[in-house]
Amino acid sequence: MTDASPEENTKQSIISIRKLGKSFVSGSGKGAVRYQVLKDVDLNIQRGEFFILLGPSGCGKSTLLNLIAGFEKQTEGELLVDGQTIDRPGKERAMVFQHPDASLFPWLNVRENIEFGLRMQGVSRGERKAVSDRYIELAGLTGHERKFPRELSGGMKQRVQIARVLANDPELLLMDEPLGALDAFTRRIMQDELVRIWTETKKTVIFVTHDIQEAVLLGGRIGIMSIGPDSRVFEIMDNRLEYPRDITSREFNLMQKKLQSIFQDDLYFHL
Ligand SMILES: Nc1ncnc2c1ncn2[C@@H]1O[C@H](COP(=O)(O)OP(=O)(O)OP(=O)(O)O)[C@@H](O)[C@H]1O
Ligand SMILES: [Mg+2]
Repeated sequence: MTDASPEENTKQSIISIRKLGKSFVSGSGKGAVRYQVLKDVDLNIQRGEFFILLGPSGCGKSTLLNLIAGFEKQTEGELLVDGQTIDRPGKERAMVFQHPDASLFPWLNVRENIEFGLRMQGVSRGERKAVSDRYIELAGLTGHERKFPRELSGGMKQRVQIARVLANDPELLLMDEPLGALDAFTRRIMQDELVRIWTETKKTVIFVTHDIQEAVLLGGRIGIMSIGPDSRVFEIMDNRLEYPRDITSREFNLMQKKLQSIFQDDLYFHL
């Protein structure tokens, strides 16, 4: 295990976070209440890694991801992408949301949805087709190109969303519980597909989950967040199990138990 010390090598980090804080003010006037969601978050994300942010509901995982995406602005500290301060969303960072319906265009078919970003950038028809062909195949959507979102299953919609994000060729994939709404079978298939896609593309991934098994199945490093308020990444666990991982193996179960014990420890509730 390693801790999230700021001394990690920041040079090759795609994301470098120092003393990051985020508070929200609810209400107005005398009744206004300030809630410090994140405090003193220190974290470096290395290029090409599959990083998991793990923590219970309400601890601030989505808040941290939204800061990295540039959808929100921090109230304290520093957040650098490739050494640069960010203050807005950028196409090098792409978010995959939990609910694909919110992000797919219902009037575009699978291929058109996947090509949308490229079309907006003025990429030629031939080039768009070459790119969408690749990601349609990678996401296992061959034969479904002409279907509209309403004609797809939940898992297929989520694969379209992932394919669309990949087609835009972002440096960094931000995934906020992207498989949370799927049934257990589809979820397992999608987890395996995600590992396959990541192995082939070597994108940097930050993946949010509160599911310990999912964290051990996917993550190369697992950042564990405290409950909050004042939540931070208080520990980072290295996960060197070889991909693709076997959830029935002894090593896998040991890793799961190790993580579980952190959340069961009384100390966790007093961090
Ligand atoms: N826009 C906002 N205004 C006020 N409070 C907010 C806002 N967004 C988030 N919060 C608060 O920040 C805390 C963390 O929320 P966040 O959505 O980041 O949690 P999470 O870890 O993603 O939880 P979940 O696993 O349930 O998605 C919560 O207490 C929430 O009420
Ligand atoms: Mg969330």
